Amino acid sequence: MLRSISVIRRDPIAFLTRVRADYGDVAQLPIPQPPTYLVTDPEAVRRVLVTNARAYGKRTLQYTTLSLVTGDGLLTADTESWRPARRLVQPAFHRDSLELVSRHVQDAVDRLVVRWKAVDGSVVDVDEAMMRLALEVVGESLFGSDLTGDAERLAAATLDALEVVIKKARMPLPVPLSVPTPSNVVLRRAVRQLDGAVDAMLAERARRPLAEGEPARDMLDLLLAARADDGSSLSPQQVRDQIVTFIVAGHETVASALTWAWDLLAHNPSAAERLRAEADALDSAASYEDLPRLPYTAAVMDETLRLYPPAWVVTRRALEDDVLAGVPVAADSLVIVSPWLVHRHASVWDDPESFRPERFLDDAGARRRDLATSSAYLPFGAGPRLCIGRDMALLEGVLVLAGLARRVELEPVGASPRPVPLVTVRPDGGLPMRVRLR
Ligand code: HEM
Repeated sequence: MLRSISVIRRDPIAFLTRVRADYGDVAQLPIPQPPTYLVTDPEAVRRVLVTNARAYGKRTLQYTTLSLVTGDGLLTADTESWRPARRLVQPAFHRDSLELVSRHVQDAVDRLVVRWKAVDGSVVDVDEAMMRLALEVVGESLFGSDLTGDAERLAAATLDALEVVIKKARMPLPVPLSVPTPSNVVLRRAVRQLDGAVDAMLAERARRPLAEGEPARDMLDLLLAARADDGSSLSPQQVRDQIVTFIVAGHETVASALTWAWDLLAHNPSAAERLRAEADALDSAASYEDLPRLPYTAAVMDETLRLYPPAWVVTRRALEDDVLAGVPVAADSLVIVSPWLVHRHASVWDDPESFRPERFLDDAGARRRDLATSSAYLPFGAGPRLCIGRDMALLEGVLVLAGLARRVELEPVGASPRPVPLVTVRPDGGLPMRVRLR
């Protein structure tokens, strides 16, 4: 076990891959408490996330740690508080919002091209650029109508708090928040700043409410207007938790996917060529209406999310005894589902290590929805806790890839970076590439 712990810390993906190879699709890890299982059999994964989802909760170390920042937001909430909140929040992700998001994506792409024009021909960190772009998009989609600068303060405070939580999670022994260790003091200060920024934003919104019949200006307007059947709405604390959750869940995930997409395209020139041809065939800058004309670009996103699922593990706590692929799993066990391993399962995927976007297209070149929703493909999870931002993320990914491919070329300057699995899968040392304006 001690040997395993050092391997887990150094290279968790290699460790999990070896466990699966040595012990099969439902394997108990050498961790004494709680009993911990790695589940990679697609049918067993489906049982945990979909068909028997009510028997699994979210009280796991992964989500409890994250909830120090996100509170009782959708991602970390356990079933009871999650269900009514999901119903209230869902309308903020409907079609009108997605159209708004697509305009923010176009603006962010335009700004990035201007910045890259100034350094045409030199090496840039594509990873850093994608992080900034994704943060701008989620910030503007949530509170694009903010006029006060509170939005920037809020996003910065969220990222500060998240950084402290990640450092905290990597410490060998968890220390309760009430103990004034240096990291707890920093975390409490970061969360206070975050709460202050949310309060300022909500106070500003209260001074400028929507007029009768006026369309929502951004997703925050939609969250504030949401009403359940009994007329109840989200409390200020709930609005705070959801906003912070969207920044945390909707920023680094999208950036990670885009970064790996650029890396994969750089090392697969024929795929890059086909994507560029599809983007060039559009009449003007890639927009919401163009999405049906970008099936290959969508397949590049699908295939990137298969090979580099940003959420490389998803955890659950068993609420009752269960049996997964013939293995008894006792109540209170920790179940680790790894999209990374499921997506590379040789029994399901043909030539799983290769980047082949075509696998997500049918013979007519249209997107294969059956594959994108199969139980062996779960970049956005599955079942009731499926990612609420899936359509937003896919739309953003496709419009960024096509929008940039029309205007720049990104050339590799070395081998692919090593994937480092943190909250999402990050490229070790960033992704340096040479940018050339077209
Ligand atoms: C490529 C980008 C993204 C990936 C790979 C991703 C992945 C995931 C995954 C795997 C889950 C399920 C976690 C579980 O079952 O425990 C999830 C849930 C969630 N995601 Fe995403 N996500 C992405 C983008 C976004 C965006 C853009 C937003 C919002 C702005 C978002 C908000 C959420 C929320 C709120 C949940 C919790 C849903 C619930 O339990 O009701 N995500 N995401």
